[in-house]
Amino acid sequence: MKDKTFLMIPGPTPVPERVLLEIAKHPMGHRSSEFSKILESVYSDLKYVFQTSNDVLVYTSSGTGAMDAALSNLINPGDKVLSLVIGNFGQRWAEIAKALGADVETIEVEPGNAINPLVLKERLDKDVNKEIKIVTLTQNETSTGVTNDVKTIVSYIKEHGALSVVDGVTSLGAMTCKMDEWGIDVLISGSQKGFMIPPGLAFLAASERAWAVHKECQRPDFYFNWSTNRKSVLENSTAFTPAVSLISGLKVALEMMKEEGLENIINRHTKIAKALRKALRAINLKLFVEDDSIASTSITAILPPENVSVPDIRKVLKNDYDIVVANGQNQLKDKIFRMGTLGFVSERDAITAVGALEATLHKLGHKFELGKGVATLIEEMNK
Ligand SMILES: Cc1ncc(COP(=O)(O)O)c(C=O)c1O
Repeated sequence: MKDKTFLMIPGPTPVPERVLLEIAKHPMGHRSSEFSKILESVYSDLKYVFQTSNDVLVYTSSGTGAMDAALSNLINPGDKVLSLVIGNFGQRWAEIAKALGADVETIEVEPGNAINPLVLKERLDKDVNKEIKIVTLTQNETSTGVTNDVKTIVSYIKEHGALSVVDGVTSLGAMTCKMDEWGIDVLISGSQKGFMIPPGLAFLAASERAWAVHKECQRPDFYFNWSTNRKSVLENSTAFTPAVSLISGLKVALEMMKEEGLENIINRHTKIAKALRKALRAINLKLFVEDDSIASTSITAILPPENVSVPDIRKVLKNDYDIVVANGQNQLKDKIFRMGTLGFVSERDAITAVGALEATLHKLGHKFELGKGVATLIEEMNK
């Protein structure tokens, strides 16, 4: 039977029916009072998810658009940017900064590891002339399934005086990220992840410190210009024609998030991901990130068993069980596969996915005690 596809990739993620029905309606005029009311609600509820009192700008773009928007509103050519790179998405910050003419330095770790905040502190302490203007980082590195200790990292960046620019694309709405309390200067995210709507919207919030630096930016991007876009936010409007249907869907998704409550959402993600890790180990699979303390709660990277290939696992899961998991990216392609447990994902989904993975691996000849993954998962989730 077809048409029961379940996306277990780290985005796009499954979309609730309430949201789908809203998006399916005729698009409304983006200058109508009706749409303005929707925007008012969306702008307010985004602050709840970002845990900030700063305005949250909404762009019609993918998440990378918000990354571009962050740096292209801050950087002047020659500015020094320090990029903390633990995978492809951390690297993307460095590439964007370079494209804008910044002088980019990186702190890099082997894939599967997180940034050691003390290594960053040491580098920042050496910068006695305060040349480093911006530090970029990723909260949840989707390419490897590793989470950085943003709270500690940002505290060191603050101590130094540089701006912290944080990618929260696969962390917001899935793990704790307190923009104001932790002192994050710029935080961005995207719609097709923890926000439970399809791809097409991106979000950005900036601190007062970041707004002051923006004022000194000589050539801010036109479409992504913070000032133009904030003016519209204050008028419950948008600068340009937005993806109106997605914004209507976002209103419903944010209402659902508020109904569940941020803390409960985060606990749900943590519970499912922890149980999943235990279940995978129980069926003799090795996890790419062995250290549970840095493991993501929205994406789990898994090594294939010996003599079983990643493409075969993905193929059987898709063809026989209609479950889509992600391949590794770049140098990790075919070396790992990644299961997303991000956004609109329930315990039932995890049980289904582990059951289907067991069935897949059984077909492919992997040796393990059939049923042990599902049993472990259930036991762990019922604790
Ligand atoms: C952590 C992270 N940052 C940035 C992006 C880029 O987002 P997009 O593909 O929507 O441009 C992604 C996409 O998966 C991501 O996972």
